[in-house]
Amino acid sequence: MRKNGIVIALDGPAGVGKSTVGKRIASEVNYKFVSTGKMYRALAWKALQTGTALNDEQALLSLADSVSWTFPRGEGPEADVALDGKVLRGELITEEVSRASSAVAVLPGVRSLMKTMQQKAGADGGVVMEGRDIGTNIFPDAELKIFLDASAEARASRRVGQLKAQGLEADYNEILAFIKKRDYQDSTRKINPLKKADDAVYLDSTNLSQDQVVERIILLFRKAAGR
Ligand code: DC
Repeated sequence: MRKNGIVIALDGPAGVGKSTVGKRIASEVNYKFVSTGKMYRALAWKALQTGTALNDEQALLSLADSVSWTFPRGEGPEADVALDGKVLRGELITEEVSRASSAVAVLPGVRSLMKTMQQKAGADGGVVMEGRDIGTNIFPDAELKIFLDASAEARASRRVGQLKAQGLEADYNEILAFIKKRDYQDSTRKINPLKKADDAVYLDSTNLSQDQVVERIILLFRKAAGR
């Protein structure tokens, strides 16, 4: 067992609810929650800010190297990402940054840099780490691996619901096309594509409520962590 508990690797496509579910689980079992997508987003944000080309691997690596990365505990169980001490939150969830993060995530040097930071963040356990390749690449030895899935249509409907609840405009077909495009980009890239680890538990949430998903994962956690 690691110092602070087990590693829960939570992988799956964009918009499947990994963050919401992961944070709820982390709160319930008193673990920290780390979103690895946020790390890719932070680099993408910095690249956009500085006019760095999103396909220039050397320039992106120098850029990443030129800032200090810290992961202070934010509100609740989630670790924030801060560059040079600036905590990034709202900046990271724009569509422009989403697209840019998916682009920088295809570069092997960028992935290898992220891997080092992510392994460091989770090595002591007591962590729910969410991403695309946590169970296959970052923590192949994670004590619990979940691959959370849902149809693209279900994910698009949920997203429309969330936006409308915030009083925002939402076009279902546009969102569905965006989700499918990102699925394609994330699962067909050559290095560490979005893929279920052989030993991960596959959980299709298309017809499950969020409570049901959380409940199932907590049961699996109790078995894996022995508590
Ligand atoms: O989960 P997210 O939408 O915040 O992730 C943003 C992008 O980062 C996503 O398009 C793919 C990439 N990503 C990745 O390649 N590997 C991870 N472990 C997490 C995210």
